[in-house]
Amino acid sequence: MSTPFPLFPTSASSVSGEVDLLYLFIVAVCAFFTVLVAALVVYFALRYRRRHPDEVGADIHGSLSLELAWTFIPFVLSMVMFGWGATLFFKLATPPANAMEIFVVGKQWMWKIQHPEGVREINELHVPLGRPVRLTLGSEDVIHDFSIPAFRVKMDVVPGKVTTMWFEATQLGTFHIFCAEYCGTKHSGMTGQVIVMTPQDYEAWLAGGRSTGTAAQNGERLFSDLACITCHKTDSSGRGPSLLGVFGSRVALMDGRTVIADENYLRESIMNSQAKVVQGYQGIMPAFQGMVTEENLMQLIAYIRTLKPAAPEVKK
Ligand code: CUA
Repeated sequence: MSTPFPLFPTSASSVSGEVDLLYLFIVAVCAFFTVLVAALVVYFALRYRRRHPDEVGADIHGSLSLELAWTFIPFVLSMVMFGWGATLFFKLATPPANAMEIFVVGKQWMWKIQHPEGVREINELHVPLGRPVRLTLGSEDVIHDFSIPAFRVKMDVVPGKVTTMWFEATQLGTFHIFCAEYCGTKHSGMTGQVIVMTPQDYEAWLAGGRSTGTAAQNGERLFSDLACITCHKTDSSGRGPSLLGVFGSRVALMDGRTVIADENYLRESIMNSQAKVVQGYQGIMPAFQGMVTEENLMQLIAYIRTLKPAAPEVKK
C-alpha cells in the first residue's frame, strides 16, 4: 500500500478521513501557537534586552483587552477540538444498525475470528467493501487491543467483558491489524491482516470456507450440551428464567435493581451466575467460569440474542 506521504497510514474507512482532518487541525493549532510563542520569546529577548547595567523595566499593570483575547481565543479553539472530537467519538462508538457482526477473540498471541455464517479464520479478517462491520471482542487471557490503523479504529480487548467496535472499509486491499496493548513476550508478533474484498468476492470467499455452523448455531448446540436448556425452558416452568426475548430487555434482580440484559450482563450471568440473580429465582445456577472458552461464550450470547419472544407475548 503506497501513499504519497508514507509517514501516514493509508486512509481506507468511512471515518478515517475525518479522523485525519481532526488530527491535522489539532496539530496545526498546536504548531501555530508553538511557533508564535517561540518566535515571540526570541523577538522579545532581543528587542527588550537590558542595554545598560542601571536600566529599569517599565511598570506594566496589565491590559484587559489583551487578557480577554488570550482567554477567549484558546477557549473557542479548545471547544472546537472538544465538540468535534466528541462528535467523532460518538460516531465511532455507535455501530450502524445494519452492520454485519463478526466475533473476535484475542489470546496470547493470536486473533481468532468467526464470521456470522460460521467461517473461522486466524489473524486474517476478510470483509466486504462498503458495508459496516461490527466486531464483538473478547479476550481469553490478558488485555489486548484490536487496532486497524488504516481504518483509524482500535478497541481494548479485555478479559471478563465484551467490547465492540465498528468500521466500514472504503478501499479494496490488505491492511495491518496490530495488537496495540502490551500483552507479553510475543505482543509485537500479534498482528494480522484485514482483507477488503468486493461483496461478490466476499460471498465467494465465504462459500469456499469451512463452516461449522453459524455462531448462533454453535451456541444453540452448547446450550444443550452444557444442559442450560434443562433449566432455561422456553416457558416459565423451568428452574431458571426463560431466555426468550431477554436480550436488550430490562431484568429485575433479586436485590431490587433493574439491569439491561446486554452482552456484558449475559456474559457475567454465565461466568459468575450469582452476581445478578433474577427476581423470583433461586441462585442455583453453577458458575461457568473456566468451563467455557471466550469463543463458546460469544456463541452462547449469539444464540441467546436470536431468542425472540413468543409471538403473542403475555405480560405478567
Ligand atoms: Cu495482544 Cu499485545
